Amino acid sequence: MTMRSDDPLLVWRKEFPILEKTTYLISNSLGAMPRGVYDRMHEYAETWATRGVRAWADSWWDMSVTVGDTIAPLLGAKPGAVTMHPNISLLQAILISCFDFTGRRNRIVYSDMEFPSVMYVYEKFARSRGATLNVVHSEDGISLPTGKILDAIDERTRIVPISHVLFKSAYIQDVRAIVRKAHECGAVVILDAYHSVGIIPVDVQKLGVDILVGGVLKWLCGGPGGAFLWIRPSLRKQLKPTITGWCAHERPFAFETEMQYSTDVTKFLNGTPAIPALYAALEGPGIIAQVGVRNIRAKSIHQTSLIIEEAQRHGFTVNSPLVSGRRGGTVSVMLPHAYEVSRELLARDILVDFREGAGIRLAPHFYTTDDEVVSTIGEMRNILESGAYRKHSRKHSRVT
Ligand SMILES: Cc1ncc(COP(=O)(O)O)c(C=O)c1O
Repeated sequence: MTMRSDDPLLVWRKEFPILEKTTYLISNSLGAMPRGVYDRMHEYAETWATRGVRAWADSWWDMSVTVGDTIAPLLGAKPGAVTMHPNISLLQAILISCFDFTGRRNRIVYSDMEFPSVMYVYEKFARSRGATLNVVHSEDGISLPTGKILDAIDERTRIVPISHVLFKSAYIQDVRAIVRKAHECGAVVILDAYHSVGIIPVDVQKLGVDILVGGVLKWLCGGPGGAFLWIRPSLRKQLKPTITGWCAHERPFAFETEMQYSTDVTKFLNGTPAIPALYAALEGPGIIAQVGVRNIRAKSIHQTSLIIEEAQRHGFTVNSPLVSGRRGGTVSVMLPHAYEVSRELLARDILVDFREGAGIRLAPHFYTTDDEVVSTIGEMRNILESGAYRKHSRKHSRVT
């Protein structure tokens, strides 16, 4: 694997202040903040300070959809088709609340490689509404045999929630095959695209999914509090979320005592939107669109391959797919004392994370240099051999 010194995407580095002081390999968790967010947050405060309550009519009330419009092109969706919500867990609950699980078709098929928060919603909320769960298990903790998922889907299946890219290993699922089987059986596919939008090309039409959820926090560099929802228009018309609120009403300001769902995408909103988060989300997706997801993907394949090559050269275990076509933007690397090594990397301003059963997750993005990738793996070896990892002890806290 050759190192690239003439990478045109590196012109974007100056737009991300944190890159001046750290090696930022954590875009799978929290994408770097674009410089423009300082201005956006100021704009938010200025609007509140000077326009007061008029800000709602000026722009705030529509932001759940207008911010969605900046994300729609990255999904192959039309303007006006994407809504913004605070997080995916809530979105999953809203979606579950649209379906009836009292009859024979009451099964939800998903895998044990989904993001746990989503599984908690199915385990607690969906089951309380009568759903039965069929959880498909990964055999190696990295991938999921598509055949096993296909076999689990039948005419009793109501919903198939799947991640496009698995959060632990970055394994890319065969979404089209799963959609085909689900549709043959009359089931609905909810695609969690948190780890695909912004790092690999996504097109809701080509994938054929019914519903897509994702978030701006990671690969879209949009900060916390910005999750998004797209629903195929024909399905959208049929769904009636019972987790709802006044923002989903056809005439919210009439304050009618009975619900009448709005006829557009706002039907899936609930209470007052978190406006500051929507301001923060305005910069990142636009940058990603300008850089171009195809360019980002090509560079990501190059750098994740470089990580794998370096990790293997140092004798570390790679817990992500070795085949680039099946690998998203992250490489999970396991080595002795991986948790403690990850804490020492953070102390040295090399930003990564650690996930149980996966190892240290390394996630380069379009702003990462090849040098950063190679020197991080070298630093991992150095921390291990020097014993510097001993400064850190393993503890489970509520923070990381
Ligand atoms: C695949 C996936 N889905 C969802 C989430 C986040 O869910 P929430 O927005 O509810 O925090 C993550 C976060 O890491 C994730 O990796």
